[in-house]
Amino acid sequence: MRAAIDRLELPNPAWASVDNVADLVSFGDATGWPVVLKTPRGGYDGKGVRVINSAEEAAGTEDWFQAMSPLLAEAKVEFTRELSALVARTPDGEARAWPVVHTIQVNGVCDEVIAPALDIPVEVAAAAEDAALRIAGELGVTGVLAVEMFETPGVGAGFLINELAMRPHNTGHWTQDGAVTSQFEQHLRAILNLPLGATDALAPVTVMKNFLGGGNQDLYSAFPLALASEPAAKVHCYGKSVRPGRKIGHVNLIGASTADVDSVRRRATMVANIIRDGRAAADEAPHTFEETA
Ligand SMILES: Nc1ncnc2c1ncn2[C@@H]1O[C@H](COP(=O)(O)OP(=O)(O)O)[C@@H](O)[C@H]1O
Ligand SMILES: [Mg+2]
Repeated sequence: MRAAIDRLELPNPAWASVDNVADLVSFGDATGWPVVLKTPRGGYDGKGVRVINSAEEAAGTEDWFQAMSPLLAEAKVEFTRELSALVARTPDGEARAWPVVHTIQVNGVCDEVIAPALDIPVEVAAAAEDAALRIAGELGVTGVLAVEMFETPGVGAGFLINELAMRPHNTGHWTQDGAVTSQFEQHLRAILNLPLGATDALAPVTVMKNFLGGGNQDLYSAFPLALASEPAAKVHCYGKSVRPGRKIGHVNLIGASTADVDSVRRRATMVANIIRDGRAAADEAPHTFEETA
């Protein structure tokens, strides 16, 4: 993937394919520590990502090289926030981009999305959308493609590309309630080679908040409380069994003004927490807010 991005002359962090600890140390010494070590495929939710702070720490990665090689070494990027550019493309080559969004990761896992990314310079947003459309076109993608990026003012194109996900993606779940066409509808249109739908946002801001498995096994027990606490919220559950830390659903909430973003984030988080923790825990927390979306 990194080689393909270089070929397209799009902005990558410094990277190298590394076969062993010695290669990793050479890369870190050349580019500077810390370095991020990744499994080139099969990783998700931060599971295939390790931050290596020094040559001494690199010695502790022998287990990864034993299990799989080569690995991908990257410079650890100093970013202001993480972004995602979501596009869809048909086999005939029609392609459309949704507005670029701001994604917030907690422990390497997507936790929240703010759509569109607020206060992003227009030229950076346009360049990010163009990059994603070019990648989709040049790699012949059919369906939805998410391009995860680091926002890096003054470096690269104002962003560096992190990773590609060729599928409907967590950073696109906001489109279910915040865009004219959701990523799932668009994916079907694309793979069926039908005309694509409009990708405009329906509101000045949409917040998507994930909920991960926690203490509450019976998610639906908390639904009455969660839904009553925020009538504008849209709750999406995946029907998965609950395991701690597993992504099991998300809440979408739209706001009437970008100035409301803090309130929208707080209310979406409240709904997600009620479902994650269940009625008992939620009863201890305030669960009504005066503000309306
Ligand atoms: N080169 C890097 N520099 C800084 N942070 C990074 C780098 N690569 C990954 N990360 C952090 O780790 C998270 C997960 O890494 P990513 O490559 O996106 O793997 P995953 O497939 O698990 O999403 C990223 O969203 C980012 O927060
Ligand atoms: Mg990622």
